[in-house]
Amino acid sequence: MLIAFVNQKGGVGKTTLAVHLAAWLHDAGRRTALIDADGQASSSSWLRVAAPEVNIIVEQRADELIESVGRLAETAECIVADGPANLSETSYDQFLWMT
Ligand SMILES: Nc1ncnc2c1ncn2[C@@H]1O[C@H](COP(=O)(O)OP(=O)(O)OP(=O)(O)O)[C@@H](O)[C@H]1O
Ligand SMILES: [Mg+2]
Repeated sequence: MLIAFVNQKGGVGKTTLAVHLAAWLHDAGRRTALIDADGQASSSSWLRVAAPEVNIIVEQRADELIESVGRLAETAECIVADGPANLSETSYDQFLWMT
C-alpha cells in the first residue's frame, strides 16, 4: 500500500501527516517505509528521531521515484511518501501517476 501526501499548494500539512502516519503504522506493527521526496527533507529528519526503525529513502529525483517504490514494496507493507512543496517539482506528477 502506497499513501502519498501531495498537493498543489505548499504548507498544507503533508510532512506533518506523513511523519505521524508512518510512526503510527510502525507502532501498529506494520512493516513501514517512508519516501521523502520533499526538497526540504524534513520528514526523513523527523522520522529518524520519532521511529528510527522505519526504513527511510530520501529521493527527490522524479525519475527514480517509481524504482524506489518498487524496491521498498518488496519488504514494506505500507509506504508513506511525503511529496514536494509545489507543482513546479516534477515528482508531483510521478506521485499522481503512481497513486
Ligand atoms: N493539523 C494541523 N493543524 C495545525 N497546524 C498544522 C497541522 N498540520 C500541520 N500544521 C502546521 O502547518 C505548517 C506546515 O506543515 P507541513 O510542513 O507539514 O506542511 P507541508 O505541506 O509539508 O509544507 P511544504 O509544502 O512546505 O512541504 C507547520 O508549521 C505545521 O506545524
Ligand atoms: Mg513538507
